[in-house]
Amino acid sequence: MDSIKIRGGNPLRGEVTISGAKNSALKLMVATLLTGEKLTFTRMPDLADTRFLSTLLEHLGADITRNGSEMTLQTASLSSAEAPYDLVRKMRASFNVLGPLLARNGEARVSLPGGCAIGARPVDLHLKALESLGAGIELADGYVEARAKNGLVGAQIVFPFVSVGATEHAMLAAVLAKGETVLENAAREPEIQDLANCLNAMGAKISGAGSATITIEGVDHLTGASHAVVPDRIETGTYALAAATAGGDVLLRDAVWKHNSALWDLMIAAGASVSEENEGVRIKASGGRLRATDMETRPYPGFPTDEQAQFMAAMCVAEGRSVIRETIFENRFMHAPELMRMGARIDLRGNEAVVTGVEKLRGAPVMATDLRASVSLVIAGLVATGETTIGRVYHLDRGFEHLEAKLAGCGADIERIKE
Ligand code: UD1
Repeated sequence: MDSIKIRGGNPLRGEVTISGAKNSALKLMVATLLTGEKLTFTRMPDLADTRFLSTLLEHLGADITRNGSEMTLQTASLSSAEAPYDLVRKMRASFNVLGPLLARNGEARVSLPGGCAIGARPVDLHLKALESLGAGIELADGYVEARAKNGLVGAQIVFPFVSVGATEHAMLAAVLAKGETVLENAAREPEIQDLANCLNAMGAKISGAGSATITIEGVDHLTGASHAVVPDRIETGTYALAAATAGGDVLLRDAVWKHNSALWDLMIAAGASVSEENEGVRIKASGGRLRATDMETRPYPGFPTDEQAQFMAAMCVAEGRSVIRETIFENRFMHAPELMRMGARIDLRGNEAVVTGVEKLRGAPVMATDLRASVSLVIAGLVATGETTIGRVYHLDRGFEHLEAKLAGCGADIERIKE
């Protein structure tokens, strides 16, 4: 298993080009199941997760080619409407093939998902949404068996709480349903808008994406389209926090300012200089330590849970005490014990972490536990004295494109050790 070695202490100077958003890419790729025509995506990140989803989509009948950051997908006809356990268990987002398969084929069989070990993460809201659209759902042997022999039918779906995946899944199923679907208490993340923009380019009639109420007027069929994947706001936030913590001056090329407003507010409160430029977002560290700032994760436009671990790494070396509250997922502080191995002072109290900033972290061997947790260890390694070795980096490879090259390009002393 590969590991990443970092010798800390170098400031970051230069620029990083932000890749397409992983979380958007995975739902956009699934849209190929809704049409026999060709979809072309630009700014498509090349990640373990996108490669993994390609394997599943190819199993279902998609023809996929990649040329640099351009990907084309065409599913002229489905070769299967079953997504087996082996192809779904590693990545939760693969579960989103269920709705499109059902919409196109009238029945589908999809394994219940796996994914990061961050809490229970059920799919009850996904299944309730599909049932509201008229699907018959049965659970058997770890699989969901869904049927809608006469097609899906538009409905009003009120989500009891905000779910990104369930909102996207309902959209992907309702675009080909008969009549109108209204999603209430829908997620408002930029990835939802990105998916709606792509589906609309394919001929769907979706309005309100980005607000809590999304209306979908079903259409008979969808066509091919070209679409640029939205820049990754989580990658943006990660490099922003890395630069503000390690020091230096970095331009995050193509970063979309408004997609990270909650982070910018906190970083500015913590004393970092963050500014919007024509080409993206610039982070300039003050030279001194950041000030400790409290944070609570929330659905968009609140502070993203996917940036919580990175924010905690920054607070580990800030001046003062910050309280970090995780409200989206249980069991999402797995990075805290690893940060403590590097000298961080963190007190965990249920869904709260109280972080008392220290002047210096010390390099240590640490272990990646999930995707976002592992990149918080990279940030800690960049500021620590001495050498940090991060094991199990396959977690990082799921979601960060060219991580070592991007950081090394800004002066970090970082390398991958192949094993
Ligand atoms: C997506 C993102 C993930 C991010 C999360 C929250 C992708 C591939 N992943 O995950 O990186 O951390 O949004 O921004 O886009 N829940 C249920 N029942 C359901 C669905 C969700 O109880 O049927 C719960 C979850 O356990 C969690 C909360 O709802 O506590 C929010 O989860 P959700 O927004 O659905 O996250 P994902 O779509 O899985």
